Amino acid sequence: MEEKIIYMKNEADTVSFGIELAKNAAPGTVIALTGDLGAGKTTLTKSIAKGLEIDDIITSPTFNIVKEYDTGRLPLYHFDVYRVGDVDEMYEIGCEEYFYGEGVCVVEWADLIEEIMPEDTLWINIEYGEKEGERIYKCTF
Ligand SMILES: Nc1ncnc2c1ncn2[C@@H]1O[C@H](COP(=O)(O)OP(=O)(O)OP(=O)(O)O)[C@@H](O)[C@H]1O
Ligand SMILES: [Mg+2]
Repeated sequence: MEEKIIYMKNEADTVSFGIELAKNAAPGTVIALTGDLGAGKTTLTKSIAKGLEIDDIITSPTFNIVKEYDTGRLPLYHFDVYRVGDVDEMYEIGCEEYFYGEGVCVVEWADLIEEIMPEDTLWINIEYGEKEGERIYKCTF
């Protein structure tokens, strides 16, 4: 495991980064996104979807925990676990089928369910930078 720090100057940088990440994604890739409210987890997820050539509009899955998109190069399973009370809820929705399946999983707020995240998860922690639009990514790949 290696920690890499990547600076985003603006939202366009986030979009490029997400597209590139998606191009390198393979079946079973799990990407965990952490960081404060409004840090840009959903924005990055949308860019990943774009990189997977998914045309659907990506909306936050907060109330249903996971949303599936099947029209791209690989299936995308977009989780937002902010409102998950405990990991049993994750097992109830069949999270293992997603995590160890053939698609790409993106999990917003994955730190809340860290104990059940796969070993080879790609972790990205997003922090605000000094200026508006700046973000600092700490990536553990
Ligand atoms: N470099 C950037 N990367 C991502 N988003 C940015 C950036 N600069 C500005 N933004 C803005 O910050 C906001 C990020 O909101 P977003 O919904 O993606 O955050 P989030 O981390 O998913 O929040 P939540 O915790 O509520 O799910 C958007 O309004 C977006 O336009
Ligand atoms: Mg979000």
